Amino acid sequence: MTDFGFLPSKIDRVVVLSGAGISAESHVPTFRGEDGLWKNYRAEQLATPEAFSANPELVWEWYAWRRSLISKCEPNAAHHACAKLEKALPESWIVTQNVDGLHRRAGAEKIVEIHGSIWKIRTMDRREERFDWDPETGSTPELIPWSEAQPRRMLRPGVVWFGESLPEDGLDKAVELCRTADLCVVVGTSGLVFPAAGFPEIAKHAGVPVIDINVQPTNISSYADAFIKGPAGEALPPLVDEIIARSG
Ligand code: OAD
Repeated sequence: MTDFGFLPSKIDRVVVLSGAGISAESHVPTFRGEDGLWKNYRAEQLATPEAFSANPELVWEWYAWRRSLISKCEPNAAHHACAKLEKALPESWIVTQNVDGLHRRAGAEKIVEIHGSIWKIRTMDRREERFDWDPETGSTPELIPWSEAQPRRMLRPGVVWFGESLPEDGLDKAVELCRTADLCVVVGTSGLVFPAAGFPEIAKHAGVPVIDINVQPTNISSYADAFIKGPAGEALPPLVDEIIARSG
């Protein structure tokens, strides 16, 4: 049983920073786990603008495979705990690196998807962006979607690729949340990809207590105020209950 003595006595605003590990128990492959490989490619070889311009069909095949796989996955206890936290503490937010949409399917609404959404498609210049697949209906979109406004223009997945900058609004919001929270809870990230990997440090430097939940220690756990070793689906629900008990 975790000793929650490290928690502040009064908590109203929590920022949850989630990574692929929060969806691992929903059977969504993480990026750097042993299940991160597909057809001998690594995500870094497919999730880039260069890969897309060189072979858009292969990149769309990879995303179609991921979308089909994720559409069969359900939110787990960790996603539901985050939604419960938001309902109990309305000033709390989730900043997620994940593109799987499982936080939203668990009922959370105050979410910053800093790496975009696998359910979105858009033009390169972002002028046209829309959801093209609702995992609840499971309808299968065309493998390669084309712009409605500019018929000969191929649309790309609405996600952030390696080497691309994050949308400004999401980045600014995430930083502001980390600076002004009463508590920062990091769940299931290797802390290797910036700028997201730097968010817990921003919280820490602003005097916000940081908790890291992971099945193994990371750089973040080395400076966090507390490291809870364990699967998110087991570790997060009791922590959320303890936070709610200290709210308002
Ligand atoms: P990673 O695959 O790098 O790391 C997943 C983390 O989750 C690891 O630290 C695991 O130890 C941990 N983990 C695995 N199972 C867990 C469980 N059941 N409970 C808790 N933790 C668990 O995924 P991310 O850190 O999310 O970026 O990767 C960050 C970014 O790198 C992704 O958003 C993506 C990728 O490239 C882009 O696509 C731009």
